[in-house]
Amino acid sequence: MKTDLALHQQLVAPTDTATAIHTEGLRKVYQGGKDGPVALECLDLTVNKGEFFGLLGTNGAGKSTTIGMLTTLVTPTAGIAWVAGHEVSADPVGVKSRIGVVSQANTLDRALTVLDNLAFRGRYFGMSASAARRRALDLLEQFDLADKASAKAHQLSGGQARRVMIGRALMHLPEVLFLDEPTAGVDPQAREDLWQIIGNLHKAGQTVVLTTHYLDEAETLCQRLAVIDHGHLLACDTPEAIKATSGAQTVITVRYDADAGPVEGAVRRIPGGPHDIVIDGPTLRMRTTRPDGVLGHLLREGGAVGLTVRDAATTPPSLQTAFLTLTGRDYQP
Ligand SMILES: Nc1ncnc2c1ncn2[C@@H]1O[C@H](COP(=O)(O)OP(=O)(O)OP(=O)(O)O)[C@@H](O)[C@H]1O
Ligand SMILES: [Mg+2]
Repeated sequence: MKTDLALHQQLVAPTDTATAIHTEGLRKVYQGGKDGPVALECLDLTVNKGEFFGLLGTNGAGKSTTIGMLTTLVTPTAGIAWVAGHEVSADPVGVKSRIGVVSQANTLDRALTVLDNLAFRGRYFGMSASAARRRALDLLEQFDLADKASAKAHQLSGGQARRVMIGRALMHLPEVLFLDEPTAGVDPQAREDLWQIIGNLHKAGQTVVLTTHYLDEAETLCQRLAVIDHGHLLACDTPEAIKATSGAQTVITVRYDADAGPVEGAVRRIPGGPHDIVIDGPTLRMRTTRPDGVLGHLLREGGAVGLTVRDAATTPPSLQTAFLTLTGRDYQP
């Protein structure tokens, strides 16, 4: 195994200058040994330098576990990962010095000022006191936090704290910035501000890996996405390609005033099919690539068997419908 690992390091890490992250068979089982519940199953992933890459999934999908293994905080059960040219298990110090991590929880030192939270991080990475202070002040300026430099970390709002954490993660000019749910629990305005900050970092060339359970965030920010569900990688591509190749379709949902079973036969014969139909009590859900006129058919065919439509909704192809197509269930973060 040692020989294989050394060989991999020789073959992949130093030669491939376009790759920021590469994983092969990365796997995590937290408890119960190798047969216990799997938090992440055999992940093969490549993130390019300069890319804005997203890990998208619902609660418990395995996003933080993935970030944890890539940032040396979680030990993989199996597999191998290189980050910024260094293998995470063999050279955690090499990886740590080249990455910035903003974790899901607020990890600012509450007893320190905002400025010192940043400056101390710079000192930790070997910067002189004056260089660390200068860089910290620059970052606070850049993130519109200059007036908070002397505030204590616990005096910040949720959105401000996130911005300070991002600034702190950038102190030593990391090659890869990891952001675990950076906008979770912040208000809509703070979310917009964070999107702008993160987007600008990427425009300036920063490689970013972000986890999110917000579909709109994934679609707005990320160039490529890995969709993870229950520890499995379901899709990895641009948001557009995921929608196209997952066969994401328009979803039409109607709720009749009684069990929809009697209308099923007629609905299956609606032109443009075969349509993918699921009936759950009074609710009928149809996935189709030819949605025009379908709603009218559902009204008429329902009427023909004595059913009245109570509610109707049409959802065009989106990451939401792609997820539904990939998993067979609604996306509920
Ligand atoms: N330290 C741990 N010990 C045991 N199980 C864990 C641990 N951390 C995570 N898990 C389990 O691993 C699975 C994946 O969790 P993970 O935190 O990676 O999900 P996530 O996608 O980040 O979810 P969230 O959106 O809630 O942050 C879950 O089933 C979780 O309960
Ligand atoms: Mg998480």
